[in-house]
Amino acid sequence: MAQAYEKYLQEVLIDEARLQSRIAQLGAQINADYAGCGDLLLLCVLKGGVMFLSDLSRHITVPHMIDFMAASSYGAGARQSAGSVRIDMDMRLDVKNKHVLVVEDIIDSGYTLAFVLKTLSNREPASLKLCALLNKRSRREVDIEVDYIGFDIENRFVFGYGLDLDERFRNLRFVGVAKTDDIADA
Ligand code: IMP
Ligand code: MG
Repeated sequence: MAQAYEKYLQEVLIDEARLQSRIAQLGAQINADYAGCGDLLLLCVLKGGVMFLSDLSRHITVPHMIDFMAASSYGAGARQSAGSVRIDMDMRLDVKNKHVLVVEDIIDSGYTLAFVLKTLSNREPASLKLCALLNKRSRREVDIEVDYIGFDIENRFVFGYGLDLDERFRNLRFVGVAKTDDIADA
């Protein structure tokens, strides 16, 4: 039977096997970089980062905490990030003196991450790094340094594996490219 997402899917961009093997590599790299470092805190940016966080965390053998923060940019349509960002839900744990690794689904313009990173750096973490599953480099409007990148992708609208198409299909095990014009009535 046809799945509901199929009519919105142009093509599978990154299948489950590629996602999982790359996430295992990132985990190994993070284990090496943070070995013996003290308190590591993985901070997931909701909602898109949630699948990535849960898979990545299970590859990280360094003892670590997890926490969540929700941020959104507003004043623009679903496929466009505006320059204004707000924190919709703040994290619970105290960042001070912890090694914070921000875990994000995708970096597009960079506005969301720039704001989140600035907010966190004011709270005096021991270190602050960024891990993004997907990176749309050509769309960048603000300069941010990304320490760990899963995949560099072209400027195409993608969904699945945490990323939504009008709040749907975050549960898919792959990252797919959306067809161009039918985002509205999923
Ligand atoms: P930025 O502030 O422009 O970097 O936008 C980042 C946020 O926009 C991400 O965390 C996503 O929530 C959303 N976003 C950007 N590109 C896509 C996409 O291709 N699919 C789904 N969400 C996206
Ligand atoms: Mg996100």
